Amino acid sequence: MQIVLKADSIKVQYGGLIAVNDVSLSLEKGQVLGLIGPNGAGKSTLFNAITGFAPVRSGNVTFLGQDVTNVPPYVRTRSGMGRTFQTERPYEDLTVLENVLVAAFLKNPKRKDAEEVAMSALEKVGLQDRANQLSSDLNLARLRRLELAKALALEPKVLFLDEIMAGLNPPALKEMIEFLRTLTATGMSIVMVEHIMEAIIQLADHVIVLASGNKIAEGSASDVINDERVIEAYLGTD
Ligand SMILES: Nc1ncnc2c1ncn2[C@@H]1O[C@H](COP(=O)(O)OP(=O)(O)OP(=O)(O)O)[C@@H](O)[C@H]1O
Ligand SMILES: [Mg+2]
Repeated sequence: MQIVLKADSIKVQYGGLIAVNDVSLSLEKGQVLGLIGPNGAGKSTLFNAITGFAPVRSGNVTFLGQDVTNVPPYVRTRSGMGRTFQTERPYEDLTVLENVLVAAFLKNPKRKDAEEVAMSALEKVGLQDRANQLSSDLNLARLRRLELAKALALEPKVLFLDEIMAGLNPPALKEMIEFLRTLTATGMSIVMVEHIMEAIIQLADHVIVLASGNKIAEGSASDVINDERVIEAYLGTD
């Protein structure tokens, strides 16, 4: 199996707060890695450190065999990291298509090529009929799909999803899970931060549990959800 992503002993510190403490992970081609843990555990920070949006104090990130620890985010994106943000960030005065075009231009400087890539990303997520609407008119489920289309327009090898399922109703959740399965079937790898256990159980090949910046457990979804340290981290000792 081909390892596409490796992080070794990542540490992120904000002033006196160690947000991520010595966490390592690796991800194989076509696999889904789930990052879970209570609020403030350091999930987004680890995710940001790997994608280049949080400062790495020590440790290394290797992506497709290259050390990218000190490489700026846009270069990581160009080399195949596609990400969403925990808070949707559409350009509200742009149309749905224009939002995705912004991403598509990164690898496709010619407008015609970028438009093709952007439309294809919109088709994949089922938003092609909304291409010319303002993104501010989309409901939550469609905004999430727009975020996903933006990441897909980067033509990523590894897709990083930060709570893409949050707030979705059960049918939309089911659709999103099925859609992500179609992506991994094509060989795409996914790192997902997710609070929705249903999604983790159905999608993740491997799960890492963070609490207070530390890795407290890892393994299959069923292993970690039955782990006493994990239950304690979520529910407290009472
Ligand atoms: N830019 C920053 N500056 C200072 N502290 C930060 C910064 N980003 C995160 N933190 C702190 O680091 C810790 C981890 O935050 P992080 O956002 O990674 O948690 P999380 O696991 O993603 O939580 P949630 O489930 O609520 O999204 C928190 O204590 C947070 O306040
Ligand atoms: Mg977070």
